[in-house]
Amino acid sequence: MNPIHAVISAIGGYVPNYHLTNAELSTKVDTSDEWITKRIGIKERRILKPEEGQGVSFLAIKAIENMQKKHSFDPLEVEAVIFATSTPDYLLPNTAALVAAKTGMTRAFAFDLEAACGGFIYALEVANCLVTSGRYKKVMILAGDVLSVVTDYTDRNTCPIFADGCGCALVEATTEPIGIVDSVLQSDGSHPEYLHMYGGGSVNPSSPDTLAQRMHYIWQDGKVVFKHAVSNMVASCDALIDRNQLSKDEITWVVPHQANLRIIESVAGHLGVPHDKVMINIDKYGNTSAASIPLCLWDWEDRLKKGDKILLTAFGAGFTWGAIYLKWGYAVSD
Ligand code: UT7
Repeated sequence: MNPIHAVISAIGGYVPNYHLTNAELSTKVDTSDEWITKRIGIKERRILKPEEGQGVSFLAIKAIENMQKKHSFDPLEVEAVIFATSTPDYLLPNTAALVAAKTGMTRAFAFDLEAACGGFIYALEVANCLVTSGRYKKVMILAGDVLSVVTDYTDRNTCPIFADGCGCALVEATTEPIGIVDSVLQSDGSHPEYLHMYGGGSVNPSSPDTLAQRMHYIWQDGKVVFKHAVSNMVASCDALIDRNQLSKDEITWVVPHQANLRIIESVAGHLGVPHDKVMINIDKYGNTSAASIPLCLWDWEDRLKKGDKILLTAFGAGFTWGAIYLKWGYAVSD
């Protein structure tokens, strides 16, 4: 058995200051606080106002600053930086390198990872492999998006959902029996038509035509995505539960990607896990894509204890999905 485990040793997060309420959205499209609350479970979301002139790197740097308020670490010891995002500052250079330079992680190799809402669990699996290989001891995961820049605020089917935010997690090597235990990660790229943003890449480079066709905004067939999200997150969690002979009572927390409160409740219902063991903050942050799982861990950090058995699960564009089973590594009060 490999004596090296990879454990999350610190969490950070940041959401921008501007609260975009359902009431304000109702002035842009034909919707209501009642509909959004009932069908999605969001009351407000945070938006990076364009006049702040910043991209997702701004959110990541703030998230690291917030991490450092509770956890001191030497940025020079970080050996790799992975930024899970679908909304990098630029197409190149990569945003992980920009953040690493601005936060003193100057000895790290740095790259972006695009797996949409599945980004955090994908990045955590990559960090797990880097660390348990024995070659790297400290990896920083950044996971964030500024979805407001790719949200069509004339489309009521999508604009209530998406939001901005960033989380970060430091992953370290340990020989203690804690950290990431098992994972299931999958993808299926055979149906991009259900959830996509087709403009701006190599097939449809930005042009007046792609702008006119609104190809630079996220589009989804909500009902289809909803069904795939529930069935695949449940299947991933069930696989981990079976493989690790976990009883439902043993699970301390389920941390689902925050896409829709009804998706979260449906997943929890299928798993048989009670509501009070499920981290939910979609009401105040909306769907922040790659950031939603670390933002939950950040919000709940003070309540987590060493050894807590936690299931993370996510589903997003690609499709990308999966689940990770881990034993939490610390209590903030330690
Ligand atoms: O992060 C991973 C990717 N995304 C997801 O996981 C999202 C998955 N999908 C969903 O969360 C839901 O499908 C939505 C929130 C997108 C939509 O909810 P729904 O219950 O599936 O609504 P629907 O699309 O079936 O629409 C039902 C009705 C329609 O009216 P008619 O045709 O029945 O008259 C829509 O036009 O609700 C209408 N509607 C709205 N009404 C008020 C759709 N959006 C709105 C709105 N306000 N914002």
